[in-house]
Amino acid sequence: MSINLTTELFGYTLQSPVILGSGPISYGAEGIIRAHKAGIGAVTTKTIRDKKADNPFPHIAFNGSNSLINAEKWTDFPAEQWVEEEIPKAKEGGAVVIGSIGHTPEEVEHWVGPVDRAGADMIELVSYMPETIASMTAKAKKLTGKPVIVKLSPNWTDPVQAAKDVLNAGADGITAMDSIGPVLRINIRTARPMLGGEHGYGWLTGSAIKPVIVRYVAEIAVITDKPIIGIGGVMNPEDAVEMLMAGATHVGVCTAPILKGVEYIGKLNTGIAGLLQDLGYVSLADVSGAALQNLPKDEIMEKFSFHFHRDTCTACMRCVQVCPYDARTLSEKKEMDLNEELCRYCGLCTTVCNPGALKGEIR
Ligand SMILES: Cc1cc2nc3c(=O)[nH]c(=O)nc-3n(C[C@H](O)[C@H](O)[C@H](O)COP(=O)(O)O)c2cc1C
Repeated sequence: MSINLTTELFGYTLQSPVILGSGPISYGAEGIIRAHKAGIGAVTTKTIRDKKADNPFPHIAFNGSNSLINAEKWTDFPAEQWVEEEIPKAKEGGAVVIGSIGHTPEEVEHWVGPVDRAGADMIELVSYMPETIASMTAKAKKLTGKPVIVKLSPNWTDPVQAAKDVLNAGADGITAMDSIGPVLRINIRTARPMLGGEHGYGWLTGSAIKPVIVRYVAEIAVITDKPIIGIGGVMNPEDAVEMLMAGATHVGVCTAPILKGVEYIGKLNTGIAGLLQDLGYVSLADVSGAALQNLPKDEIMEKFSFHFHRDTCTACMRCVQVCPYDARTLSEKKEMDLNEELCRYCGLCTTVCNPGALKGEIR
């Protein structure tokens, strides 16, 4: 039986647990509706502020390996346009709309009411400054009866403390998290930065940031039962399931549909359902937080045991190549040998084995 990906978020029924994060695809109603038709659960608008953004040129670059850097600011539409045209049109198109509002308490005061009345189903708050996010949350809660989700930044000194603060201020859910930066890439052909932002700086997203985000999601999941949208580096069904296992109830994507096209959302949905089934999970609720009980409080000081399946081995030699201690050899006949005196049980060889022929099993 296939897993049902329909999920609830604050009483709204979503067609998928995958949510489009605030970014270039949600630039306006057209993009939002395209994502909705591709099978997304809900769409977060590009961040709405008092003044529309003027972006530097260029402001998005491919960073290789399923990753981007960007110096794109908030929405380049006036806030009034969102309220009068884009949000009502996106709602007519059938999308579940999360209105993203930033970045100051004053802007919360100005736009939470109008964005709510324009038809947004929920509000997401985003700030560059951790010291303002709790007061923005409290203010927003006074201005709307709709759910208020707060987006946290991995660039803050203590995002987990920020999560506690916004939950105390009444946040209904958490989006974890935003892009990481500033970072710098240089085009070596021109000796110029790849982006046209101040100092050439940009912000990193996609695969490169996933381990940071998964770690914070796991830390936040143990302090709240409220919904957590885990966003950062989800590029395929495996990433989505990892984010859920860390304690996310929903999974956000931004870089994936940019690099792979909006239509990839449908494939991501099908892939998540198939993968959960293969892994033996019966529902989304079943997998959310599944890894939390396995995160050890103390270091594991017992060596694991290696298992080698010769028939699955493709003799690619990666395990031999990456061993810093020259402890592993593989003969032409695929006979694996491990010099236990040299081996430090670092485990790297088991993690580079693509076909899964070499495994480490914690005793
Ligand atoms: C080009 C670009 C523009 C973005 N603009 C916004 C924005 O306006 N507001 C916001 O809250 N997040 C913005 N983000 C951050 C994403 O919503 C998301 O948190 C981040 O990209 C991590 O997810 P990902 O690895 O799936 O891309 C932007 C990301 C990208 C790549």
